[in-house]
Amino acid sequence: MCGIVGYIGKRPAFPILLSGLKRLEYRGYDSFGFFVLDKDKDFLLKKTGKISDFEKHLEDDFLNKVNGTIGLGHTRWATTGVVTEANTHPHFDCQKNIFLVHNGIIENYKELKEQLINEGHQFTSETDTEVLAHLIEKYFQGNLEEAVRQALKKVRGTYGIAVISKKDPQKIVAAKLGSPLILGINNDEFLVASDSSAIVSYTRQVINLDDNEIAVLSPNNFFILKEKPIEKIDWDAEEAQKQGFSHFMLKEIFEEPEAIEKSIVGRTVLEQGLAKLGGLEQVLEQLKKVEKIIIVGCGTASYAAKVGEYMLEEYAKLPAKTEIASEFRYKNSILDDKTAVLAISQSGETADTLEAVKEAKRKDCLTLGLVNTVGSSISRETDAGVYCRVGPEIAVASSKAFISQLSILVLITVGLGRQREMSLVVGKKILEELQKLPDLSKKIFSQADYIKELAGKYSQYRNFYFLGRKYNSSIASEGALKLKEIAWKIHAEGLPAGELKHGQIALTDKDFPTVVICPSDSVYDKMKNAIEEIKARQGKILAVATEGNEEIKNLVDDVIYIPKTLEMLTPILSVIPLHLFAAYLGLELGLDIDKPRNLAKSVTVE
Ligand code: F6R
Repeated sequence: MCGIVGYIGKRPAFPILLSGLKRLEYRGYDSFGFFVLDKDKDFLLKKTGKISDFEKHLEDDFLNKVNGTIGLGHTRWATTGVVTEANTHPHFDCQKNIFLVHNGIIENYKELKEQLINEGHQFTSETDTEVLAHLIEKYFQGNLEEAVRQALKKVRGTYGIAVISKKDPQKIVAAKLGSPLILGINNDEFLVASDSSAIVSYTRQVINLDDNEIAVLSPNNFFILKEKPIEKIDWDAEEAQKQGFSHFMLKEIFEEPEAIEKSIVGRTVLEQGLAKLGGLEQVLEQLKKVEKIIIVGCGTASYAAKVGEYMLEEYAKLPAKTEIASEFRYKNSILDDKTAVLAISQSGETADTLEAVKEAKRKDCLTLGLVNTVGSSISRETDAGVYCRVGPEIAVASSKAFISQLSILVLITVGLGRQREMSLVVGKKILEELQKLPDLSKKIFSQADYIKELAGKYSQYRNFYFLGRKYNSSIASEGALKLKEIAWKIHAEGLPAGELKHGQIALTDKDFPTVVICPSDSVYDKMKNAIEEIKARQGKILAVATEGNEEIKNLVDDVIYIPKTLEMLTPILSVIPLHLFAAYLGLELGLDIDKPRNLAKSVTVE
């Protein structure tokens, strides 16, 4: 969703805000704005479009003209109010004394706005955020944090905010409820941001604000209305650079072998066939008693969940079910203290997933997280969990985090399986094969140029089916989602292959190709049935098959090969060419694959 950054210190704020916002642009890129407080002349700028385009046209001496050392920046993903400069943050009060940036949604903004208008306040935007500026104005009596505290008592919804007042000028007040907000501490300068990528070039000392906390930052110190430990960001600014790739999306796909490695290294005890997941150690006894596991997530994370469900049922013999997080919260599932709810999320901030965790806690379930972002809301809200450890994922569409989630689900399966009926031999075999995947997956990248060629060949089509079965049925969904996200002129659907004949095949013809994921596994023959059905209707087929399968060449139009591995591990390999195919196809169509239309990383609204 939206990105926030704020700076207070001794250096000019604007260049720091600008570089922070560029790093946050993946959270929203409809429009952006800045406010810098300056004794001589305040600076307020709001623009629609992308920061990178604005920066290209900046005059050389522009940065030197903005001297203030206290400021705010915001990049917007429109929720309430269309994309206009007026709706862009920072928002301000009637007198232009209070300037505020916000991430989240104020649910009762309409009634508050009506009330404030009746009291004489004048609004300049259609946004929910603007009510916060006017509410703070209403309660302001010389002390900004007190006015913020009073104002926030009136709102319903979620927020991460940062506020400056010209009448209490030596401070930034920040507060959060339900939307992420962190403070960065660097000797005598302080930052506030909606996520660490905005500030990691300046400091790695951070404090994660908790819900309902208010922080006050001044040029020499800061305080929070509660004592909090300082934590350390576990990745550096280098990891958030493109490192020679044209796009983060490509860089992150090419990092997938490393993502498997980072996810599993030090987490296996091969001779005992055991997974060693430090984050779960404190709940090992509780996990033994669990009789059912529900895995919740959204989008790509939910597809990882589905693969996990199959692994857990087949190998850990634990009843498992995937629930889309936004559905789980409202459907009133039957839960109890023998149910574990595992939340999967790259960002750890997805509102639907976070709310699902809270609902599970209300129903006495053991809650677990599988999260990439250290210190994120889901990682803090769950009872225990495992981190992906794959560094920041900057491209909006998820790739390396998905691979990591799958790899860690294998470890969780072995961990829970070995607490139950899984034998040493089976545990050991799975872990041995898992450890081979970083190298095996690298082999797939030797076909990158070929996959690029295929993307060119298939770029003439506007509709695709993706088919898979058993472990690969949700990889079909992931392949289709990735294609429609980052090559968004194309429509794609992922289906369990057996469903094709139950209606979907009505659309198949020579102009409607299908990507078929058909490794040599227990359902390969069934996949061949689907291939024949498509061919009988002149449908073009691109297959992902296991190395050594020569027969498939005669059945389909094009083949991408993946190395042989255990059936349960094939999704970790089969998804890689699909990620590459989607990225190359997006580029072929001239699209910005890092920032797909209409999307935002980290969906912090319900
Ligand atoms: C797809 C994608 C989204 C996310 C989903 C959940 O490429 O990025 O579908 O997977 O919004 O996000 P997290 O994992 O951050 O909870």
